[in-house]
Amino acid sequence: MKNISVNIDNIKEFAAKAEVVALQNKIDEHHKSLLEKTGKGNDFLGWIELPAETDSNLIASINDVAARIREKAEIFIVIGIGGSYLGARAVIEALSNNFEALRKRDNNPLIVYAGHNIGEDYLSELLEVLDDKDYAMTVISKSGTTTEPALAFRLLKNHLENKYGKEEAKSRIIAITDKSRGALKKLADNEGYQTYVVPDDVGGRYSVLTPVGLLPIAVAGFNIEKLIEGASVMQKINVTSSSLESNPMALYAAARNVLYEKGKLIEILVNYQPNLYYFTEWWKQLYGESEGKEGKGIFPAGVNFTSDLHSMGQYIQDGQRILFETVLSVDSPKKEVKIPFDDDNLDGLNYLAGKRVNEVNKMAELGTTIAHVEGGVPNIKIEIPEVNEFYIGELIYFFEMACALSGYILGVNPFDQPGVEAYKRNMFALLAKPGFEKETEEIRKKI
Ligand code: PA5
Repeated sequence: MKNISVNIDNIKEFAAKAEVVALQNKIDEHHKSLLEKTGKGNDFLGWIELPAETDSNLIASINDVAARIREKAEIFIVIGIGGSYLGARAVIEALSNNFEALRKRDNNPLIVYAGHNIGEDYLSELLEVLDDKDYAMTVISKSGTTTEPALAFRLLKNHLENKYGKEEAKSRIIAITDKSRGALKKLADNEGYQTYVVPDDVGGRYSVLTPVGLLPIAVAGFNIEKLIEGASVMQKINVTSSSLESNPMALYAAARNVLYEKGKLIEILVNYQPNLYYFTEWWKQLYGESEGKEGKGIFPAGVNFTSDLHSMGQYIQDGQRILFETVLSVDSPKKEVKIPFDDDNLDGLNYLAGKRVNEVNKMAELGTTIAHVEGGVPNIKIEIPEVNEFYIGELIYFFEMACALSGYILGVNPFDQPGVEAYKRNMFALLAKPGFEKETEEIRKKI
């Protein structure tokens, strides 16, 4: 069976193979310290063994709850932000029909998201839509204190209770939070909601394979066992060796760090399949929040080709040479569409007649890679046999482990996020949150 793999042939004009190989010793050291939990942020390494150790009773419970929700809800709202939402969305959108919202909903709730913004129109329009829909929801917050999901949950809980009454509303809410701390835990206990725990040693952006991601993914109708199976295969590959020859996570981490050292400060994750858009968003969060600290880090960006070849393509080809690309290259699409012959051929496309749309997409990918490499943009390729639960599981573990190795090579703690506190402090000060009196006084002098 094929697994996902990494190809760095197209970085050789910018970094010699020997420069990548020279990182092997560092990789060995960091790999060891991750597995032995001796490095920075070692309280947050629970995700490393998670796939192989996922309790089958937990999976069964999640599948049962998901089946119950699927029977009674047309819409399932996932309330959360950052790591408490992006992983679920990445997987659900990758596996879903591109036109999911327009499809008939036989026992298949549409998953919608809230608590990841503070848009008043967004929330108002969501509440309006829910007036005449059957729905249920999960509220996800590891800390249990994050403002955005707390605010959305207050509004949605209120709507749900008014619509169904308090008792029925309870059976339509699942809380996913810390086992003992935080406002959400207290609220869930008081109200008697069904609750799942975010493990202490798994941070938000590494939590997609905990109930944080698994519950919404199961409600969306996807096979969470297969997802975990894929992640377990990558876990096994990782534990077996740290060699750049056989561990694709190590190779990717080493290659991107060599490019960074050569002034390639921005990594663009490229996809050629529109349903990978949110996978890129998840990846951006994972890498941005893990590496961007202490004045260091590769800036993670994303593009969706071929759409963005008609916008960002110009910059990538010709702008500042501080970029490299990492392409999510999918071998086989799930569906097949052949281009028909046309007698009049007024569009001049008969040269493509009989070919699959994917053949055109693949030539766009190859042509773009050649053009961008020649234009000075190194290219790493991640080969993915197919977009299904198994390979998405592999890809999740792949990126998580590569991110941890990469963060250690950079010398940062990839498991904290001190930088996200600054905006919160200012927002609370401006809103005069109790306990922030001093900050309120100070910030008011600045405006
Ligand atoms: O990766 C992280 O730790 C963050 O992105 C968090 O997931 C995000 O801030 C949400 O936090 P919480 O789950 O505590 O509400």
